[in-house]
Amino acid sequence: MTGSRYLMESEEEARRLSEQARALPVHGHLSSTGLSAGMKALDAGCGPGVITSIMADLVGRGGSVLGVDINQQRLEEARAHCAPLPQCSFVQGDIRKMELASDTFDYVWCQFVIEYLAQPEGALAELIRVTRPGGRVVVADVDALGLQNWPVSPELEEGCRKFVAALAAVGLDLHIGRKMFHLYRRAGLEQVRVQLAPLWVVAGAADARLITDWRQRFATLEPVVSPVFGGTSGYQGFCEQYLALLSDPDALKYAVLLITEGQKR
Ligand SMILES: C[S@@+](CC[C@H](N)C(=O)[O-])C[C@H]1O[C@@H](n2cnc3c(N)ncnc32)[C@H](O)[C@@H]1O
Repeated sequence: MTGSRYLMESEEEARRLSEQARALPVHGHLSSTGLSAGMKALDAGCGPGVITSIMADLVGRGGSVLGVDINQQRLEEARAHCAPLPQCSFVQGDIRKMELASDTFDYVWCQFVIEYLAQPEGALAELIRVTRPGGRVVVADVDALGLQNWPVSPELEEGCRKFVAALAAVGLDLHIGRKMFHLYRRAGLEQVRVQLAPLWVVAGAADARLITDWRQRFATLEPVVSPVFGGTSGYQGFCEQYLALLSDPDALKYAVLLITEGQKR
C-alpha cells in the first residue's frame, strides 16, 4: 500500500476479520509475548476490535488499550464491540505516522497490517517510536499465505505464482512474516524471538468459513489481480481451481502465522 488504500476493503471485511480473529488462539499469542495486567497497550490496525477486546481482558481495568485504524467504519465497529470495556479507546490514524507521543506504550501489537504496507521498515520504526524503552513490539503476520498445499497441479502452481506477483506489485507481501526477524534486528530491537503458529491446518475439505473467506479475498482483489490472468474469465478460472483444492477431501492445506517480538532499548 503506497497511499492510504487498504486492498482488502469491502462490505464483508468486518465479518471476515471478526470470524478470523475468533478462530485464532489470540489470547495465548498475546500473553506469551508479554501482554499482562496493568499494561498500557496499543492495537495498531485494530480492525473491528475483536482483538482489542481480548487485549483489554488481559490488561484489566488497571491497564488500557488504544486501537488505531485508518478506516472510520472499522473504528465505529470496534467502539461498539468494546463499549462495555472502559479501558479501551480508539483513534483514527495511519500506523506509518501516528499522532501519538513517543515512548508511551508498554506493549504494541500489530497483526495482519504490515503485509499491506510497501515500506514495512517505516511502519516498524513508527511502532518502535511509540513504545517506551523496555516495552515490547509484536508483529503477527502471514508467511507464504495460500501457498502451502498439496497436491497442486502445475497450472494451479503457476496461477498462484502470478497471484502472489500481482499482489507484490501493489505492495502486498504474502511472505512478510519471515522478513520481520531481520527487520527487527536491523531496527535495533533486543531479545528478538519468533513463534510459528498455525493460521489453519485443513487435512481434507475446508469448512465453510475458510471457503467464504477465500471467495471474499478473491472477489476483493479482482481489480488488481485479474489483469495478470488476461482478464476476469482467466482470473475466475484460477479462483475456481483454488477453491476446488480447498474443498478436495484428499488434499492438505495449511497456513502459518509468524509472531515476531522484540524489546525496545
Ligand atoms: C487484515 S485487517 C487486520 C485487523 C486486525 N489487526 C486483526 O488481526 O483482526 C487490516 C486492518 O488494518 C487497517 N489498516 C490498513 N492499513 C493501515 C494503516 N496504514 N494504518 C492503520 N490501519 C491500517 C485496515 O483498515 C484493517 O482494519
